[in-house]
Amino acid sequence: MKNILFVASESVPFIKTGGLADVVGSLPKDLDKEYYDVRVILPKYTCMKQEWKDKLQYKAHFYMDFHWRNVYVGILEAEYDGVKFYFIDNEGYFGGFRPYGDDVLYEVEKFAFFSKAALSALPIIGFRPELIHCHDWQTGLIPVYLHERFQGNEFFHNIKTVMTIHNLKFQGKWNVKDVKDITGLSDYYFAPDKLEAYKDANLLKGGLVYADAITTVSSTYAEEIKTDFYGEGLNGLLNARSNDLRGIVNGIDYDTFNPETDTYIANHYNAINFRKEKIKNKRALQEELGLIKDDKVFMIGIVSRLTDQKGFDLIAYVMDELCQDNVQIVVLGTGEEQYENMFRHFEWKYGGRVSANIHYSEEKSHKIYASCDAFLMPSLFEPCGLSQLMALRYGTVPIVRETGGLKDTVEPYNEYENKGTGFSFTNYNAHEMLATIRYAEQIYYDKKREWNKIVDRAMAADFSWKVSASKYQEMYDWLIG
Ligand code: ADP
Ligand code: GLC
Repeated sequence: MKNILFVASESVPFIKTGGLADVVGSLPKDLDKEYYDVRVILPKYTCMKQEWKDKLQYKAHFYMDFHWRNVYVGILEAEYDGVKFYFIDNEGYFGGFRPYGDDVLYEVEKFAFFSKAALSALPIIGFRPELIHCHDWQTGLIPVYLHERFQGNEFFHNIKTVMTIHNLKFQGKWNVKDVKDITGLSDYYFAPDKLEAYKDANLLKGGLVYADAITTVSSTYAEEIKTDFYGEGLNGLLNARSNDLRGIVNGIDYDTFNPETDTYIANHYNAINFRKEKIKNKRALQEELGLIKDDKVFMIGIVSRLTDQKGFDLIAYVMDELCQDNVQIVVLGTGEEQYENMFRHFEWKYGGRVSANIHYSEEKSHKIYASCDAFLMPSLFEPCGLSQLMALRYGTVPIVRETGGLKDTVEPYNEYENKGTGFSFTNYNAHEMLATIRYAEQIYYDKKREWNKIVDRAMAADFSWKVSASKYQEMYDWLIG
């Protein structure tokens, strides 16, 4: 039995702000339980739903030397779907209404605390991982701390680390002086070949320098981040470590996202009966959202964080033009105010045809995946993207920009070769996107049989974790030896 530990800042079902939570909550289940004992450490956020907080059991607590103080670290545990989760408790750090705040310095301190506490908790829990799988900048200090203060200790000796980049844009950067003070790391670590990048301390960079292997969540993104455009200033380092960097595409939880059993949706369907059955979900959603009831209209869904990353500039630019077509647009998302207001505005302007749902709702997201004809995701960059995988699973045809994981998971429709699971365009250009949406509309309205074949292929595409989990396993085995 090999012990693997995941450390991350979010995971379903406990706390989620984006795809990271989906990955951390589903991949461990699909790793071979005969060979791996996989456990997960998360922060215990006060803002977790009571329903989940009620399931956590106190395990132990201790005091840890951190930032010139002796700080309380509680450990709670819960088992979910056969996976053991531990939670690091400190209400000072993990209180608040949201998991992440806007005060960068405080976020850096919070996750420095989390990283050190996660390591310090291991001997107390009595779980010695052969390998720690770290996710995103919040856990970037783990490989660094392991190198620095824990390595002398027998318990921690020779623990391997993997750093997975879910989003290179977020790095956890702050000035060296404060970060030195917070982390207690010596001057040695704050050099340009270690934690320092462009004069700042950079937590993700620390993880990327000290991890034994680096992964990211699609092959295309693994290549893209070695370039200036997508490299977010760390492309030099990623090129230098390119032998240790690989892309493993994400999967989704095929039990949670299953149109045959999904308890959130009005009507169940599958790859055989979707032609008749899927439409009932569309009717229900039109009713629920106050859209014009129309079986035939081309309904486009968007479920997303409303940020630049997701290509909302393009949508804003041609939204009026798009609304001249016979389409309905359903948006579910929260984020930057300019985009929230943009969609509210268009709902007001095109009442009955545009629905702006500016909030977070698991239930509504499933309804959108199950009801729409197409799913729009024209991202500027996209490490992997899970929404398009969910859309495929529900036979909702993705329209995407060819970047990162979108390029790797959506095969563009080719009318001459009878191929394709969606529609895609290359350049970050609003009219290129609009032309692609209109091409999809044309197939939907004029060649319904062709459209249904696209849906067939979309639903047949397999993005369960099976293949990707085995790639992680190969990497773990290679590292652990
Ligand atoms: P990212 O992690 O960059 O936000 P992904 O496509 O990987 O993008 O994952 C997004 C996840 O968050 C999906 O599970 C999607 O359904 C979900 N999601 C995003 N916004 C909302 C929302 N407003 N309500 C419910 N789920 C949402
Ligand atoms: C990040 C990325 C997204 C990816 C997710 C899970 O949030 O933005 O593309 O799917 O992580 O890996």
